[in-house]
Amino acid sequence: MKLNNPTILASGIMDEDAGSMVRIVDSGVGAIVTKSIGLTAREGYPNPTLIELDYGILNAMGLPNPGIEDYNKEIKKLKNSNIPIIGSVYGKDINEFVKLGQKMQKYGVDAIELNLSCPHAKGYGLEVGADPHLVNEITAKVKEATEIPIFVKLSPNVTNIVEIAKAAENARADAIVAINTVKAMKIDLDVKMPILSNAIGGYSGKAIKPIGIRCVYEIAKSIDIPIIGVGGVTTGEDAIEYFMAGASAVQIGSGIYYRGINVFKKVCLEIETWMKNHNYKHLSEIIGVVHT
Ligand SMILES: Cc1cc2nc3c(=O)[nH]c(=O)nc-3n(C[C@H](O)[C@H](O)[C@H](O)COP(=O)(O)O)c2cc1C
Repeated sequence: MKLNNPTILASGIMDEDAGSMVRIVDSGVGAIVTKSIGLTAREGYPNPTLIELDYGILNAMGLPNPGIEDYNKEIKKLKNSNIPIIGSVYGKDINEFVKLGQKMQKYGVDAIELNLSCPHAKGYGLEVGADPHLVNEITAKVKEATEIPIFVKLSPNVTNIVEIAKAAENARADAIVAINTVKAMKIDLDVKMPILSNAIGGYSGKAIKPIGIRCVYEIAKSIDIPIIGVGGVTTGEDAIEYFMAGASAVQIGSGIYYRGINVFKKVCLEIETWMKNHNYKHLSEIIGVVHT
């Protein structure tokens, strides 16, 4: 898959409908990942579902989405976008992932991202993504049933992320996406209760970048397929750090909150400036450089 630039919109941020995705396309992003979509509509959790903390954002949205049939309308509106559209899906078992993968392909996306990593959606996240055998089986079956690239998105909330990345690679995944949010919680001292309605959520943004970098570094040491780095990218230098750890591209989610929808353009400019100042001509000279 060829991208105009190495920045990709991460799943779940401004990608629930075509209107906001078109705005992101116009702002210079290299590719888009859709909100994670399931077989049927899901309301998500009641508010509060998101809170800004000192160094990041804590959310437990509960995977709200209209279901795959309705989401087709949004994908159709992106037909003229001229950048790759990656359809993110979540399911509770192999059959659901296979059906969702086939539908996404039929609706015209360029690749499928398997969300095996939501930290707070009971039955749809870590229960599938923390088991290397299940990750291997889901990836293999979706791969068998489809013809477009399959990306596997992993969670940092596991003991051994490398084992899970290898299980996906062995099942012929085309790329690994690391990482989803970090399981976390915030308590309101006055009311003596967790702030999120779901109590536990996923932490994203600046605070999780070192965790993402560590995961990409460990995975890159053990697998050969491309890695897409995600977690806390807000500047060009954040992206360069992910490239050095072994990522070929980066996804940006919370960075939009900090720098607006032009974050993609800004990060690309900053990458170019950094490369010029350090006498690099091609990204390939930087990717995985810490491993040499
Ligand atoms: C509000 C919100 C909703 C999210 N929804 C999804 C989702 O539906 N599917 C998914 O794979 N990741 C989801 N994520 C995780 C992001 O795609 C990304 O992995 C994570 O936020 C780390 O990147 P960031 O620090 O750039 O935000 C969500 C994150 C946030 C903040």
